[in-house]
Amino acid sequence: MLDLLITNATLPDGRTNMSVAVQAGKITEVTPGLQAPAHETVDARGYLLTPPFCDPHFHMDATLSYGLPRVNESGTLLEGIALWGELKPLLKADDIIQRALTYCDWAVARGLLAIRSHVDTSDPRLLAVDALLQVKKQVAPYLDLQLVAFPQDGVLRTPGGIDNMARALDKGVDIVGGIPHFERTMAEGAASVKLLCEMAAERGKLVDMHCDESDDPLSRHIETLAFETQRLSLQGRVTGSHCTSMHSMDNYYVSKLIPLIAESGVSIIANPLINITLQGRHDSYPKRRGMTRVPELMAGGVTVAFGHDCVMDPWYGLGQADMLEVAHMGLHVAQMTSQQGIRNCFDAVTVHAAKVMHLQGYGIAPGCDASFVLLQARDSIEAIRLRATRLQVFSRGKRLAQTPHAIASLSLPGRPPETSLQP
Ligand code: FE2
Repeated sequence: MLDLLITNATLPDGRTNMSVAVQAGKITEVTPGLQAPAHETVDARGYLLTPPFCDPHFHMDATLSYGLPRVNESGTLLEGIALWGELKPLLKADDIIQRALTYCDWAVARGLLAIRSHVDTSDPRLLAVDALLQVKKQVAPYLDLQLVAFPQDGVLRTPGGIDNMARALDKGVDIVGGIPHFERTMAEGAASVKLLCEMAAERGKLVDMHCDESDDPLSRHIETLAFETQRLSLQGRVTGSHCTSMHSMDNYYVSKLIPLIAESGVSIIANPLINITLQGRHDSYPKRRGMTRVPELMAGGVTVAFGHDCVMDPWYGLGQADMLEVAHMGLHVAQMTSQQGIRNCFDAVTVHAAKVMHLQGYGIAPGCDASFVLLQARDSIEAIRLRATRLQVFSRGKRLAQTPHAIASLSLPGRPPETSLQP
């Protein structure tokens, strides 16, 4: 007897009337119309069953701190960084842990079961590192939390920055981060990319750097990141996050750069909600959008994923752990409104993000973990349009969350008493 059987599901690749059989936390079969005895059977009623959402770029040490010690009045990146500097000395480990756990609750409820979070290593106490390592352990049974050692103030610019990074990795942080465009000079930025990639190569770690989160078209650290990736044979293990300067770069230079990125196997993460609000702030009109070149990178063979980056923190006072909101913004900013473009945006918060994060056992196929989300939508395009209700969320065969169908009661003359807000 099966542990769980999902029937009549639509899959993201368009297959309908699919049954998904689950035994011991794993998917054992994905077949059209399969009926078999199971401890529990869920009729998906034709709705979309997707692998879980994945957020490949987040800042969990800062999340839900909105208003502490004050709000970001200008809403700019630079005031956000300054505000984070004011907040850091006031942070207490317990508060970080409680806010992070609350965020993880929101994430699970929205079918977001894997998060890669940067954690600031500029503070020599490494208080946030210890706090998030504890959260990682606590949520491990239901949420895959990866941590990136992130020298927010610059690994070379911060006294003791390299030592802090090494100690964070020693403590068990998974991934080497960086912020080359925030170092004092272009040369220092390039030097930071080199030394951090070498550190990752020596330790067998992945790399994920904030790279060129700038409107400066001459901020070209992504080029160095791609070069160092090849030099150190780190292909497939390195990610450039943000890469917003690419928006403003000269087209001729980009025609050389994208093949270089593709050749190096560096993946790119755009953060649409944050890029559209924080970039282009020195412009009058025309005002740049400031998100990296998503469709062009995808067409060039680069894996591109979308991250949430921030929720209710010094940089962004909005957000709700909803990766469909991220995909929705991404497709608008990148004008990816073709049918395939919208599907690619759905992939950017599911399969592409999982690939960037090196997740094992991800997908709806025999042998994969029985982790999936039933959405109140018929396909991925409708899911983004509606930011569809996450009807049921399963992790390794266990139901973690349920949300009722979105239906509104109406009191209108001559109209039915209720209307479904989603199909
Ligand atoms: Fe970030």
